[in-house]
Amino acid sequence: MTDAPILAPDPAAIARAAQALRDGLLVGLPTETVYGLAADATSDRAVAAIFAAKNRPRFNPLIVHVADIESAQRLVAFDSRADSLAAKFWPGPLTMVLPRRADGGVSLLCSAGLDSLAVRMPAHDVARAVIRAAGRPLAAPSANPSGRLSPTRAEHVARSLGGKVALVLDGGPCPVGVESTVVDLTGAKALLLRPGGIAEEQLAAVIGALDHPKAGSAIKSPGMLESHYAPHLPLRLGAHDVRPDEALLAFGGAVPTGARMTLNLSPAGDLVEAASHLFDYLHRLDQSGAKAIAATAIPERGLGRAINDRLRRAAAPR
Ligand code: TXA
Ligand code: MG
Repeated sequence: MTDAPILAPDPAAIARAAQALRDGLLVGLPTETVYGLAADATSDRAVAAIFAAKNRPRFNPLIVHVADIESAQRLVAFDSRADSLAAKFWPGPLTMVLPRRADGGVSLLCSAGLDSLAVRMPAHDVARAVIRAAGRPLAAPSANPSGRLSPTRAEHVARSLGGKVALVLDGGPCPVGVESTVVDLTGAKALLLRPGGIAEEQLAAVIGALDHPKAGSAIKSPGMLESHYAPHLPLRLGAHDVRPDEALLAFGGAVPTGARMTLNLSPAGDLVEAASHLFDYLHRLDQSGAKAIAATAIPERGLGRAINDRLRRAAAPR
């Protein structure tokens, strides 16, 4: 399934993407986190096509992407916490879940039956240029089949969803490499629904300590299914050694030897660098011909929390 053209994001290609979106088609587009599968958020048919293309459960709501804060404020009710977070972290890898405004004009399918809506302003020139050219907010989940590895390169999108999009805009590798942090601001206490590109410590410095969903509270974060982000090969975490026929995802200076293929997320032990390589390296190890992937431990701080969240879900029983 690689039918869709992969286009360099020049003005002509951005205009073509915007026209496709206005026509209700799907477009693969780069953001700073991962590639998105974008559709016109105001069109029920276009949003329904996202769910179909990804084989995504209907109860899992979508993030709506905007090019400026004012556009977000037309879709959801901001409070003072949202004002502060947007001022500090937008454009950037932060998604805020807020009460949906009745007059916002966004398809109710984006909310998947909830009263809230998730909004984010991406820190990627191509993404914002396409939103502006389309002249409407864009719903965009990560551009992977539901449950599989997220895409951080245009080829990843073309390989898995190439038959389902009008085109893919190639913005090169995504600089952040893990999805946005999702924070729910519909309650009195901010709730961290998904660790991501903005570290929890950074958010807490602006709005104070965040709550965490209790185990089993699936309603608040419908997307946080246990198994997710899965490579085709089995994944073993916290490895200190390598077993026969394993490929190795390593981190830091001390790396076990003997793997069929080794990719080191950051030999220097830098978590930001590690996040930027995470999905690309998992894609490559998945296609290495090994029988399984082993991963060494990653520290549980800063972006390490988002990396470990993705690795735990990728390794979860399917
Ligand atoms: O970095 C990102 O956020 C990427 C790029 C493309 O922007 N998008 C992305 O979308 O990761 P997706 O659909 O793969 O993940 C969205 C997450 C899901 O866990 C979903 O359940 C949650 O956000 N979400 C969306 N709307 C929500 C809402 N109204 N309430 C609670 N959670 C919501
Ligand atoms: Mg996703």
